[in-house]
Amino acid sequence: MKAGNPVTMTLETAASTTGQIDALLQEDRRYPPSAAFHAAANLSDAAVYERAAANPEGFWEEEARTRITWFKPWDRVLEWDAPRARWFVGAEVNAAYNCVDRHLQSWRRNKAAIIWEGEPGEQRVLTYRDLYREVNRASAALKRMGVVKGDRVAIYMGMVPEIVIAMLACARIGATHTVIFGGFSAESISDRVNDCSAKLVITADGGWRRGARVGLKEVVDRALATCPTVQRVLVVNRTDDPRVVPMQDGRDVWWHRAMADSGAEIVEPERLDSEHPLYILYTSGTTGKPKGMLHTTGGYLVGTATTHDTIFDLKEDDVYWCTADVGWVTGHSYLVYGPLANGATCVMYEGTPDYPDKDRFWSVIEKYGVTILYTAPTAIRTFMKWGSEYPAKHDLSSLRILGTVGEPINPAAWVWYREVIGGDRCPVVDTWWMTETGQILIAPLPGITTLKPGSATFPYPSIEADVVDDQGNSVPLGKGGYLVLKRPWPAMARTIWGDPERYEKQYWSRFPGSYFAGDGARRDEEGYFWLLGRVDDVLNVSAHRIGTMEVESALVSHPAVAEAAVIGIPHEIKGQAIAAFCSLRAGFTPDDQMAEAIRAHVGEKIGAIAKPDKVFFTAELPKTRSAKIMRRLLRDIAEGKVLGDTTTLADPAVLASIKEQYEHTES
Ligand code: WTA
Repeated sequence: MKAGNPVTMTLETAASTTGQIDALLQEDRRYPPSAAFHAAANLSDAAVYERAAANPEGFWEEEARTRITWFKPWDRVLEWDAPRARWFVGAEVNAAYNCVDRHLQSWRRNKAAIIWEGEPGEQRVLTYRDLYREVNRASAALKRMGVVKGDRVAIYMGMVPEIVIAMLACARIGATHTVIFGGFSAESISDRVNDCSAKLVITADGGWRRGARVGLKEVVDRALATCPTVQRVLVVNRTDDPRVVPMQDGRDVWWHRAMADSGAEIVEPERLDSEHPLYILYTSGTTGKPKGMLHTTGGYLVGTATTHDTIFDLKEDDVYWCTADVGWVTGHSYLVYGPLANGATCVMYEGTPDYPDKDRFWSVIEKYGVTILYTAPTAIRTFMKWGSEYPAKHDLSSLRILGTVGEPINPAAWVWYREVIGGDRCPVVDTWWMTETGQILIAPLPGITTLKPGSATFPYPSIEADVVDDQGNSVPLGKGGYLVLKRPWPAMARTIWGDPERYEKQYWSRFPGSYFAGDGARRDEEGYFWLLGRVDDVLNVSAHRIGTMEVESALVSHPAVAEAAVIGIPHEIKGQAIAAFCSLRAGFTPDDQMAEAIRAHVGEKIGAIAKPDKVFFTAELPKTRSAKIMRRLLRDIAEGKVLGDTTTLADPAVLASIKEQYEHTES
């Protein structure tokens, strides 16, 4: 990367990274809902689409009335002055009240809210009443530590129930949480904490991953050396490690001590404006710095609760398992807020799917009788590779719905998921959405939609999606283009924290009045949507969003690297893998050791998920005469394709040397 090098990825490259789109469109397998499923489905009348299209605000108003409990009703459903949206204007609401308190008024008070399994094998079940007690105690602790309505609180933890309790405690008192994925580096933490000026951090001493203790508090300690706004740190004791990093006097407090000090204190939930900031979640974009997407309260609850109920066809006795980490938006919307608002029983698992063996997921499903499983295509492809013998060891007959999210799913993985995991009886709901959209926007309704493997099918009722060309004109069915959304929806992000201009420019200026998702898509002759992957400089590695610019700025911050370019290359399991092309400063040697040092550096700067799979060295990066890096060529080289026209290259010899090196590393 060098400043001022705009990168453009074309639809063509997006399609090539997801593989043979035309083959996809010829996919002729069809899976209509069974008669029994249709008859029992929460939504089984296709007229819902017309009804919602005719009156989108009326549609959401009805959902808001029936699914969410409001302290004060709204004056208006929607105020829309693109791109500024306000939903349920004038209403008062509290997310924690909706996810916890109100369930205590019914028999659900002793229903399991969270069934948790630690990687080493411990189990904990928290009923809604347990959750109520814990959230109250945590809220009281936060208040004692000086957190007030409007403050930001950062949360950096693994998958333990305390992460949910911490989020709900913030929501209860009107503090805005920002959860930072537990795999991020100290520098990534401090960037985020400083961007939103968090006052307090909630973390754990560590967590368990693949049989080993992963330190968390020590990473936070390093991060906080450059975070002047943080006054206090709450530390969950997860690993009970006596050698754990020392607690800093006056700053750090053990979570269990703070909770004990709260006793049985009850903290009344704040009556918050519907547009009160619920959370900020950082996500990668097309610059070196992640952006903090701001989500607010009322509309977000309505959007997530509604879609969770209808797309997963949630029944009162379902056992629902979303395998996403709470550090990503899927965890926020479909492990915490949507399901708990719906009073669901949620399974939560701490560790990796291959510990102690490759059947851990299937053993969890069997043990708890999971009925709904929501996971990512990258996981499904991994399971396929491990082999059907692992799921075959377990009784998976409790399953009735399967979901996927995070990246395009190839039909082979879809069919395997349906047949091997779902016993050929469970609908597979492929759900398209983003951190920015807050809720699922394109997905089947399993009681209505005839499924096609690899297609997210249709926009949710009331959602108006289109596929457009460069000029913003709808393209005919069968042709590719950019995915846009033409109407606001309740859980949409309201802005980028601290940077409303970037929000407007990034999402709403390319096609004025429409939301530009950054994804390529096609609709087939029957109007089904097929998502083709990103069309910008965002990579999707194992369903994790990573910006090429972010990785490039990490690379050039290594003392040996003069210049770097990062591209995504197709990867059988991860969907995309990261390839980095680096030119070194004089005096540094391009060898394996250097490649490893550079990879480790990116891990330090961003986190292990951003480490390039491949590092190529080149004396120079291939550039046009106007000094633009020719990423298309890098991609062609990385994919081993025949090279196209290179006459615009300033120095065609550069290319030959990179190509040669690539072929060398491949062999
Ligand atoms: C991709 C994850 C195809 C897409 C919820 C989007 C998908 C990005 C799908 C958002 C899907 C997500 N089919 N692609 N079902 N779901 N994506 O913000 O490229 O982590 O723009 O949100 O993931 O990733 P994010």
